[in-house]
Amino acid sequence: MALLLIIPIAIALLLLSYKLYQRLRFKLPPGPRPWPVVGNLYDIRPVRFRCFAEWAQSYGPIISVWFGATLNVVVSTAELAKEVLKENDQHLADRHRSRSAARVSRDGKDLIWADYGPHYVKVRKLCTLELFTPKRLEAMRHIREEEVRAMVESIFKDCANPEKYGKSLRVRNFLEAVAFNNITRLVFGKRFMNSEGVVNKQGKEFKGIVSNGIKIGASLNMAEHIPWLRWMFPLEEEAFIKHGDRRDRLTKIIMEEHTQARKQGGGTKQHFVDALLTLQDKYDISDDTIIGLLWDMITAGMDTTAISVEWGMAELIRNPRVQQKAQEELDRVIGLERVLNETDFSNLPYLQCVAKEALRLHPPTPLMLPHRATADVKIGGYDIPKGSIVHVNVWAVARDPAVWKDPNEFRPERFLEEDVDMKGHDYRLLPFGAGRRVCPGAQLGINLVTSMLGHLLHHFRWSPPEGMKPEDTDLAESPGMVTYMRTPLQAIATPRLPSHLYKREVVDE
Ligand code: HEM
Repeated sequence: MALLLIIPIAIALLLLSYKLYQRLRFKLPPGPRPWPVVGNLYDIRPVRFRCFAEWAQSYGPIISVWFGATLNVVVSTAELAKEVLKENDQHLADRHRSRSAARVSRDGKDLIWADYGPHYVKVRKLCTLELFTPKRLEAMRHIREEEVRAMVESIFKDCANPEKYGKSLRVRNFLEAVAFNNITRLVFGKRFMNSEGVVNKQGKEFKGIVSNGIKIGASLNMAEHIPWLRWMFPLEEEAFIKHGDRRDRLTKIIMEEHTQARKQGGGTKQHFVDALLTLQDKYDISDDTIIGLLWDMITAGMDTTAISVEWGMAELIRNPRVQQKAQEELDRVIGLERVLNETDFSNLPYLQCVAKEALRLHPPTPLMLPHRATADVKIGGYDIPKGSIVHVNVWAVARDPAVWKDPNEFRPERFLEEDVDMKGHDYRLLPFGAGRRVCPGAQLGINLVTSMLGHLLHHFRWSPPEGMKPEDTDLAESPGMVTYMRTPLQAIATPRLPSHLYKREVVDE
């Protein structure tokens, strides 16, 4: 028993002295004083990006935050973001993997959680040259348009239901359905939901896996940051293994279905699963990598778009002037006798600005994904030792009063006055990150967010629930790596187009 206590204490002391040595050797960024063993873990408030932004007010735009014994560096200005994502990009392009991320990615055999090395370069090339090409994006446009119209139809049905007349609806339900159907069709070539909204058996399993992944990902405790405590939590390891096995089983069944369909002469489809299976030999990738990539697209591409649209709609309800202006543009360009298509975007500059402004104020991943230093580097004049985790607080950067006028105001016009790129070229606006690890799905995400917002605005007028004023809309965030609205948005939708424009073609794939 005594030995059981002595060993971890000895390891802890060793680690502590190493950290002390590191702190004396390096000029680390300032930050809140860390406690022994736990560092700042108990000081960090649940909505981390807000907490880090507040600390930046006291300690400066680059801060040290200790997660147990691991140094995390958070930067909060455009100049420092550029130093991280451009000038030192090469040495800051590895990923920090939590235990759950390590398990589901088979220790980085996918793209999101892969370290920057030959495997990453190969898989990223595959994504750029094969999966996210403008040609494939265009070939899959009909899926996005069908799904967005399905959303419009179900909202319309909800409004027409006499029991629900005049009542508010939970906007998120509709957005999540679009995101779900879109991503499963894009990735697996499957629509798990029929036209009545009923999810089939495979779809239920898929949803079960997604929610279990979120559950076990969120259950991470102190041991996540203090490795020598992990022996105390053996059950978690088992949960991770079970989850990975369940996910692999479903994915392999779907992969096999596609292989059989191709053998029977179905031809290659545009879906990611078909594309990856037919490119497997050319790029020499394992089944594990295919499974990893497919799930990367699901985890990275499903919630992010729905969340962005929910935030956008909340701002449009809070700001009736902006809503009306966007609707005037839609009426002028599209009219009241047809529905919007993605090809109309170029004639709808204000709508595009609305989407951009929503992503500026509410980036769904406010701290991006964690990068890890593979060498000692200097940022903002401070040392960032090899192994540190680096975060860019893109939420804080996009609200920095030094570079944005009235930063907290939802004012899409700012982008008509000055065109600011949001795909990684302008470090003031980084909802998709920048540099080598910039989001490969950025254009797809922008198209979806713009299309969903455009359809919601063209087809309906949106107002707060009865008795609530527009400015009462709660804009608080819930904690987590992706940032949902803490209070799901409730709103009243009033149709504004002729009723035949709310019908869509029935899709049961
Ligand atoms: C509004 C929608 C989206 C936003 C705001 C967003 C944002 C981001 C951000 C901030 C990163 C991390 C960049 C970094 O670490 O430096 C990222 C990575 C990634 N995103 Fe997105 N994303 C969106 C949609 C999508 C979609 C639709 C897909 C695919 C279907 C996708 C796939 C990925 C992948 C695979 C990565 C990992 C890239 C890597 O590690 O090299 N994302 N995204």
